[in-house]
Amino acid sequence: MIDYADVIVDLQAGDTGKGKVCNTLTKSQNYTHVIRYNGGGNAGHTIFVKNKKIVTHYIPSGIVNGLISIIGPGCVVNVNSLLKEIQNLEEEGIQVKGKLFIDERVHIVTEEHLQEDGKDTTIGTTKTGNGPAYRDKYIRKGVRAKEIELLKNYIIDIYKELHQKENSCKILFEGAQGFELDIDWGDYPYVTSSHCTVGSAVLNGVPAQKIKKVYGVCKAYNTYVGQKEFEKKENVFQIIRVLGHEYGSTTGRARQIGWSDLSSICKASNINGVTHLVVNKLDILERANSYVLFYENERIEFKNKESFKTFFVDTIKNNCPLIEEIIFSESESTI
Ligand code: IMO
Ligand code: MG
Repeated sequence: MIDYADVIVDLQAGDTGKGKVCNTLTKSQNYTHVIRYNGGGNAGHTIFVKNKKIVTHYIPSGIVNGLISIIGPGCVVNVNSLLKEIQNLEEEGIQVKGKLFIDERVHIVTEEHLQEDGKDTTIGTTKTGNGPAYRDKYIRKGVRAKEIELLKNYIIDIYKELHQKENSCKILFEGAQGFELDIDWGDYPYVTSSHCTVGSAVLNGVPAQKIKKVYGVCKAYNTYVGQKEFEKKENVFQIIRVLGHEYGSTTGRARQIGWSDLSSICKASNINGVTHLVVNKLDILERANSYVLFYENERIEFKNKESFKTFFVDTIKNNCPLIEEIIFSESESTI
């Protein structure tokens, strides 16, 4: 039985700190299940457990707090990479067996998908086989997790787990990628091959009426990794890249830096029905001593952190009626 479900959704181009938000929220007693609802090995969610950095790609990062962790039917998985990730987590002392489950409908990223994606030069993909795997899913030539012998100890039917057991499920959905990479809402074709909105979470077998809180996550500045030209010429961007450790956690590529676009954050918040907005890495802007936002195509510079925050909050209040709370985070490990 589903009691309720909250959703973590990225409002920018990925890498906004979803893992950290998930780690913080799953430390509370509010959840029994954490579910990844889209994407695959292209995601890289960084968390700090006892000061140690841990990166997850397929497995919901909430697993570190002992919750039942499900890779939902909206995801794609490469078997070898997943098994390596399981081994890595176990070596860190994190319990995976009996906690991690994979819905039988999850699609498999094959060796051919990896090879094909490895040749991409136009989009700047993560080369994790994501696009080809989703393509084969949609042209109905894919392979599902249920057919894979090596995964059999992890396979479940998410419908039975969430709807047919006596115990009440309190769910946290952990999204991958972000609004600006969404296949429909992003800057096509510089997007990923899955849906990265709250709608995508609902596709994983949870009725829309059960969604309560939606945690929208963005950064005080923006980043993008891929082939399109995103970074403008501003000296401070190199400083922000270094201070913010803006290098891909999946591919190691330098992330391109830009200012956050508040119009786009409002749009993403409204489309996703965000109720709680988390603005990460404000400490990095403070250390770089630069406070800039784009709003309605204008570049606005602020004198200090307070005026930056005031403008941010006022704009959100005027444009996003569903947002109840705005949290500015200045910590690497918590919100
Ligand atoms: P998390 O969950 C940042 C980007 C790639 C590329 C485009 C398409 O860590 O926020 P793909 O491999 O998905 O076909 O690549 O999407 N991309 C991400 N950028 N964070 C991610 O995930 C990303 N997943 C994909 O760099 O531009
Ligand atoms: Mg990432």
